[in-house]
Amino acid sequence: MSNEIKVRQYENRKEYIDIQVERSRKKFGMCKVFMRDILRYRELLAWDYSREAGNQRLRSAWKPRRILCLGVRSGAENDLFRAGFFGPLLRSQTIARLAAAQDNTKYAHDKLKLARRYSLGAGHYADGRVMGVEINPDAERPDIFIGSFDELPADWSGQFDLIFTNSFDHSMDPAKTVAEWKRVAAPGAYVIVGFAMDQEQSDHDPTTGLTFEGLSELWQAPVVFASETFNRNGYHEVCFRLP
Ligand SMILES: C[S@@+](CC[C@H](N)C(=O)[O-])C[C@H]1O[C@@H](n2cnc3c(N)ncnc32)[C@H](O)[C@@H]1O
Repeated sequence: MSNEIKVRQYENRKEYIDIQVERSRKKFGMCKVFMRDILRYRELLAWDYSREAGNQRLRSAWKPRRILCLGVRSGAENDLFRAGFFGPLLRSQTIARLAAAQDNTKYAHDKLKLARRYSLGAGHYADGRVMGVEINPDAERPDIFIGSFDELPADWSGQFDLIFTNSFDHSMDPAKTVAEWKRVAAPGAYVIVGFAMDQEQSDHDPTTGLTFEGLSELWQAPVVFASETFNRNGYHEVCFRLP
């Protein structure tokens, strides 16, 4: 593992889980994912997909079959991803711009309302196309697997062609976490990691020292895009394309 990445040690797994759940409960009403960024991911991934395939016409047609969001708290980001990637309304540039402009708070409740407004025709939220993973049992809903993102269900192998997280700094074992996410990724999947480069270590943020280089070393995959400035929440971002 990259020697820049540091991981806090816990007494045992239970201590780690208890701390994560307690922290998640305190901040349960918040969501740091924004529609503006999801729509940007959609454009960048469609562009990359069509370029890789050598066929520009695939650009407007590309959609992931299944999306996985890891460390989702109450799950509002599931709803935003569903609307952004599967909602016909947000295929219109004008409506997409409006939705992005309207998503301007970090309150999960507001994001749920926004996502509901724009997800007409996006399918049912329990259809399995967008799944979340959350360690806090309070997050229970049909599209959220309650458990740790480094121990995902056995039958998820090779299932997801878009994986998103802004919770990688909560991993207690980055190498194990990456191996698990690679297991559930479909061939050619995209993985987007949002992170804070200057994150201070705390009991609930055990993984620090994340950098573009350190993450690249962990993922060992080509970078599709990387950004220090684009993210609406102020996170750095890197996106990998798996083989
Ligand atoms: C920084 S919050 C991010 C929440 C959400 N993605 C957002 O943007 O608001 C991290 C979330 O990841 C969850 N989490 C931490 N460790 C986890 C693990 N090992 N497996 C699944 N979820 C975890 C926490 O409970 C918390 O809800």
